[in-house]
Amino acid sequence: MDKFMIDGGERLYGKLTAQSAKNTVLPLLAAAVLTDEQVKIRGVPTINDVENMLHILREVGCKIERQNDVAIIDSSNAVSHEIPARLTKELRSSVFMLGSVLTRFHRAKISYPGGCDIGLRPIDLHLLGLKRLGVKIVEKDGFIDCIAEKLTGAEILLDFPSVGATENIILAGVKAEGTTVIRNAAKEPEIVDLQNFLNAMGGKIRGAGGGTIVIEGVKRLHGVDYRPIGDRIEVGTYLIATASCGGEIEIDGVPPENIAALLHKLRENGCKIHTENDKIVLRSDGRLKSVDLVETMPFPGFPTDMQAQYSALCCTAKGTTLVVENLFETRYRYAAELKRMGADITVRGRTAMIRGVNALHGACVTAGDLRGGAALVVAGLKAEGRSTVLDLSHIDRGYADFEGKLRSLGAKIRRVKI
Ligand code: EPZ
Repeated sequence: MDKFMIDGGERLYGKLTAQSAKNTVLPLLAAAVLTDEQVKIRGVPTINDVENMLHILREVGCKIERQNDVAIIDSSNAVSHEIPARLTKELRSSVFMLGSVLTRFHRAKISYPGGCDIGLRPIDLHLLGLKRLGVKIVEKDGFIDCIAEKLTGAEILLDFPSVGATENIILAGVKAEGTTVIRNAAKEPEIVDLQNFLNAMGGKIRGAGGGTIVIEGVKRLHGVDYRPIGDRIEVGTYLIATASCGGEIEIDGVPPENIAALLHKLRENGCKIHTENDKIVLRSDGRLKSVDLVETMPFPGFPTDMQAQYSALCCTAKGTTLVVENLFETRYRYAAELKRMGADITVRGRTAMIRGVNALHGACVTAGDLRGGAALVVAGLKAEGRSTVLDLSHIDRGYADFEGKLRSLGAKIRRVKI
């Protein structure tokens, strides 16, 4: 497992362009099996979650071609409705395959994707939605076996605006007979991108981004050449790092409204932020004041995927911040590691109280999950002295060339292969 060596204290200056959003590319890759014509997806980042999803597509019989950051998928010979168990363990997002494999083969078998490092992550809302569309589901020996001679449109009300459940229902409803209405649907920009992608393939979906999505089933979908939206979480991570270390960064590729909640907090912290079209410019003197409260919420609220990185910034902001994580049960694993760097964090259940300290000091810390790992890097860039961040496999799931992009901003960070 590789590690990062970081010499903290450098201010960050420079320009970056967002990678295509991991949490869009994954459902789009799942959607590629909905047509037997060629699907081309551009700007695809080289990250482990994407490689694992491409592996799953190969296992169901798709032909995959990678030309730099373009993925070309040919599903004309896709034959298997079984999603390999070992890959489901690797990649929870393989759950999205349920909806699209069901649509393609009227059958889908997947091993139960267990919880992961940030929480239980049940899939009851996914299965409830599929049942409403006429899917028969047998859960046995840790597998979920889904059969649907016919998928029929239905009205579905989600108890919680789950991103994955919304996406799975869209993928199962896009070619169902009749109309499907999803109420209390997730409003994330990645849902809007999935709607635009499927409509570009001939789908008839409207309302994504609002709470109600209407899907009129169509007979067939054709190939598409598509560039997904930029990764708002990747961009948010670099904005937070620059805000915390001090400096100036210009990032393009993500509409500011897609991370408005974060930008609002960073302005309250004292950052100067200018936006135009898909460009965000942030300036910071590195001496931030704290905000009293940050609560993670479904979009457009403060994103749970930014909670860990933002908490790292709070560790050296002047004052005390209360962070409440409303989406996942155990998304504070990074806190113990930050305390090794001198952070003053008290975690009780879903709440963390962070008292700003004058400085963090370098330490050897271990990443426990994707965004928690990114938080440790943010803290290491700010800390006095050298930090080592172990187990980069988590970070490599979601950030393409993390250290290269940070070095281009002036950070003293390098990867050591061990
Ligand atoms: C997506 O996960 C993202 N992953 C997550 O990003 C993100 O944190 C999450 O949405 C929330 O925005 C991808 O898009 C690949 P949810 P997902 O279903 O779909 C509960 C990252 O770091 N729930 O919206 O799994 C669940 O327990 C990852 O990039 C049910 O109870 O999230 C959680 O409390 C981490 N039953 C809440 O909903 C269900 O059937 C949010 O989950 C489904 C979810």
